[in-house]
Amino acid sequence: MKPLTINDLKAMKRDGVPISVLTAYDTLLAGLIDNAGIDMILVGDSLANVFQGKKTTIPVTLDEMIYHGEIVVRSVKRAFVVVDMPFMTYQVSPSEALRNAGRILKETGCQAVKVEGGVHMHDTIRAIVNAGIPVIGHIGLTPQSIHSFGGFGVRGRDNTESLAEDARAVDDAGASAVVIEKIPHSLAERITADLSIPTIGIGAGSGCDGQVLVTTDILGYTPEFNPKFVRKYASLADIISQALIDYRDDVKARRFPSIDESYE
Ligand code: KIV
Repeated sequence: MKPLTINDLKAMKRDGVPISVLTAYDTLLAGLIDNAGIDMILVGDSLANVFQGKKTTIPVTLDEMIYHGEIVVRSVKRAFVVVDMPFMTYQVSPSEALRNAGRILKETGCQAVKVEGGVHMHDTIRAIVNAGIPVIGHIGLTPQSIHSFGGFGVRGRDNTESLAEDARAVDDAGASAVVIEKIPHSLAERITADLSIPTIGIGAGSGCDGQVLVTTDILGYTPEFNPKFVRKYASLADIISQALIDYRDDVKARRFPSIDESYE
């Protein structure tokens, strides 16, 4: 199977073919996502919330992202794999960002890194791209800045122009695509028409070039998390809970193991 490249992503925008993106943090799920034909897999720093049970994405470390990135890449044959750069690994200076992006690319085998921010990240994105490392931008609701936003509300309702400028800056800096999170759909549509690179929306409506969601959310593995932009395709938490209860009951009632599940 031929792995997808940034050229395939660009061609998908040009040809109007929607780009499907999901998150993964482990080999098993990444393999299933890849086999399902999802185009891009994001090893998101959302693993801090989903996998580590932390309140924000801020605490996750570079070594943890590299660990998860490497085990995801191992089972992927076709999808374009992107690893998030965690908080404070790219904000201090472009040269520090480049060094850390290089570590992620070398040690995980992924195809691109993702950084949050627009105009202020222009030089950083350019430095990483100039070293031959593809970058995916991320604007709108950027969770690493949650304390400066003061909450997870919709972005870009009253700062439309600055968000459009952020999008242009990411494009101009040489990024390969940009994630646009939680902004009005009309603004996302405008940005998508304005940019030469694909936009990947999350809570940004159907006018983006692609869509990304957190896999555990669409599988119903995080039943307490129900934002408007998530569509649930399964109720995994219910299925798993019932299976665990059934196993416990079988052990307690000595129904497991049966003679067929035992050795002579
Ligand atoms: O960390 C993440 O999973 C993300 C997506 C929600 C876009 O950045």
